[in-house]
Parts: sequence; C-alpha cells; structure tokens
Amino acid sequence: MKIDINEISKHLNTDFIGRHAYIYEETDSTNNRAKQNSTAQDGSIFIAETQTDGRGSHERCWASPKGSGIWLSVLLKPNIPPITVSQITLVAGLAVCRAVGIGSMIKWPNDIVINGKKLCGILTEMSAVNNSVNHVVCGIGINVNTAEFDEEIANRATSMHLESGLIYDRNKIIAKLLNEFEYCYKKFLDGGLETIIDEYKKHCITLGREVNVIYNSKTVTGNAVDVTNNGLLVVKTTDGIIEVTSGEVSVRGIYGYV
Ligand code: BTN
Repeated sequence: MKIDINEISKHLNTDFIGRHAYIYEETDSTNNRAKQNSTAQDGSIFIAETQTDGRGSHERCWASPKGSGIWLSVLLKPNIPPITVSQITLVAGLAVCRAVGIGSMIKWPNDIVINGKKLCGILTEMSAVNNSVNHVVCGIGINVNTAEFDEEIANRATSMHLESGLIYDRNKIIAKLLNEFEYCYKKFLDGGLETIIDEYKKHCITLGREVNVIYNSKTVTGNAVDVTNNGLLVVKTTDGIIEVTSGEVSVRGIYGYV
C-alpha cells in the first residue's frame, strides 16, 4: 500500500509529531523539503515514496527506492542550546529501535543495524543563529520491504523484510515510529538525554566493542565502554579514557563485511 496520511493517522497517538504531513510521490530529499518549509508547525513530517538525491551523513548518498522504505523527515523547533541538537539523533535512534523491534540495535550514534547489517540511517541537520536554534530537521531512512539491494551495498544493508520474512504496512510502521519518537523526544526535552540514556545503552551494540577513533588527527584503537549523559562515546585506549563525538569514530566488527 502507498503512504497515506489517513492510514497513518488511524494509528497515531501523538500530540504534535506527525500532526501536519507533507507527502511526495518523488522529491530530491525530504530533509530539503523540511528545510524549505521551515515555517511549518513544530513536528511536521515530510515523507516521500522515493528520493532522487537522498542524503546520508559524511556527504554520502542514501538509496531510496520507490515504495519499499520509509524516507521521512521531522521538522522540530526545540528550545535547546545548539550544542545539544546532535543528541536528537540518539533520541531518534532509540525511537526507531522501539518501533522496529526484531532485534534492531544502535551502532552509536546514528545507525540502526540488525545481524551486522544496516537497516536505518538518521541525518539530523540544524539551522541556528546567535546560539539559538531556528529549527532542526531529523531525517530517518528505514529499509522496510526492500527485497534486494544494489551490489555495492548488498553485503552491509538489510531490511525489515529480509530479517523477518514479513511484508510490512509502512503506514503502521510510520505511526509507530512517530509515537515512539514523540515519547522519547518529550522525555529528552523535559529532562535531557539522561532520561533515556539507560535504555539507549541497552540497545547500543557499540558498547563492549573495539572501535577506531580519529583523535587529535591520529587513529587510535580502544574499547567502547560507555555513552555519557550528553551522548558522547567513552573509549578506553592504552593512553587513557577519552570521550568522542560522532564523526570521530569508526566501529570495527559490527557490519558483517569488516
Ligand atoms: C546515514 O546513515 O548516512 C543517514 C541516512 C539518512 C537518510 C534519510 S532518508 C530521509 C531523509 N532524507 C534524506 O535525504 N536523508 C534522510
């Protein structure tokens, strides 16, 4: 079935997330649509059946085939310091795990994996002026009913369908995702990341693993031992304990191909 706001609404129990929806048959990137419509209501969602220029982190592309996945962006207007905005990625990651189930885990900070393969990616972008947040766009891509991936990513990508053998109603999954997102996001706004960090850590497959960290422009290897209350990864290296932000770490051994 196609993405249909009436179907989504039947299962939605949020106050504001997903209460205004913009749905596209095709667009370049739902994150772009959200940014372009940044005067829309807090919690508005932008969803496409396919993206022609889906974007991932580190300037990578995000494959968004027609009709088989969830390519969705949430527009948010939080009253929080810009420095804490990257924590919304962790909030979204937990929400995805809660919505998807079927053994999904978080590869810190923003990949959702099952059985060593990537199921979902999250790209959070922000507009801020004078140390104040204008808006945040949290883009979430989930491979739902994808049966086959292009050769370049086939050994490290998976879908809910490939993992469970089931075909999913994307409208129900979207509603569930938005319900979980609002639940986690409200906790975050009310009491900070620390209110959900214990649950995040339970889902975090990075903990206890060996990781490579680019630290002071050198690559060091260490063991990921914790995630702090502000979302930093704590790594024990031979030179001592360091706390790293996203972008500084590449995790070994989680995707099947490494
Ligand atoms: C990553 O893992 O690199 C992040 C991928 C984020 C993909 C989603 S799909 C919806 C939204 N629109 C985009 O162009 N990207 C995000």
